[in-house]
Amino acid sequence: MELKGERILLREFVDADVGALLRIHADSRVLRYYALELATREHARMLVDRFINWANENPRDNFQLAIVDPGAKSLLGSCGVRRKGCRDGQAEFGIGIDANWWGRGVASEAAKLILRFGFTELDLREIRGVAVSENEAVKKFAGRLGFVSGVPRQGEPWMLERGWSATDWVMTCEMWEKQAG
Ligand SMILES: CC(C)(COP(=O)(O)OP(=O)(O)OC[C@H]1O[C@@H](n2cnc3c(N)ncnc32)[C@H](O)[C@@H]1OP(=O)(O)O)[C@@H](O)C(=O)NCCC(=O)NCCS
Repeated sequence: MELKGERILLREFVDADVGALLRIHADSRVLRYYALELATREHARMLVDRFINWANENPRDNFQLAIVDPGAKSLLGSCGVRRKGCRDGQAEFGIGIDANWWGRGVASEAAKLILRFGFTELDLREIRGVAVSENEAVKKFAGRLGFVSGVPRQGEPWMLERGWSATDWVMTCEMWEKQAG
């Protein structure tokens, strides 16, 4: 599947994306907010294999798509909605962008495309995300999109080690419809 935006395209991951995904994850500005294993080729390979496997499942629960620049064809990041393990009508949202593209609206455009897909094509009632509470970029980003946050809670062990907590973010289809007009 493909979702077309004004400046970006969301498409399925392919084998050849492993190197570019690794470069995005290995940037210290990105790695700061993730477990260190993210920066290994094995992990990037495992993620790309997982995203391709999800795309081949029938029926399909999880949609994790590559964000690309349609002109240069370069990988700018990844975003998705994942229903596996969630209650009916719910999904988890995740996004990560090449740090060189932060602050340019690419993440917002990608998020709006995949959230619209989730609420309109998958008929989701609620989409949730989780992020490091101390990640200021996520706070601004999620707030601007219209997510509301819960109370910070204890996160993964690697978050605890860095003195950080986790924040859950949620958007219902009513909230989406209201802010999407
Ligand atoms: C969280 C993350 C996706 C946010 O990315 P981002 O680039 O800050 O987000 P946006 O696309 O919303 O960028 C908006 C900024 O670009 C500016 N911008 C420029 N052109 C724009 C346009 N055409 N449309 C919208 N915003 C635009 C906005 O003014 C805004 O600036 P501000 O932050 O000073 O207000 C990014 O920091 C990231 O990938 N982090 C690492 C991964 C991560 O932490 N993921 C979250 C865990 S799920």
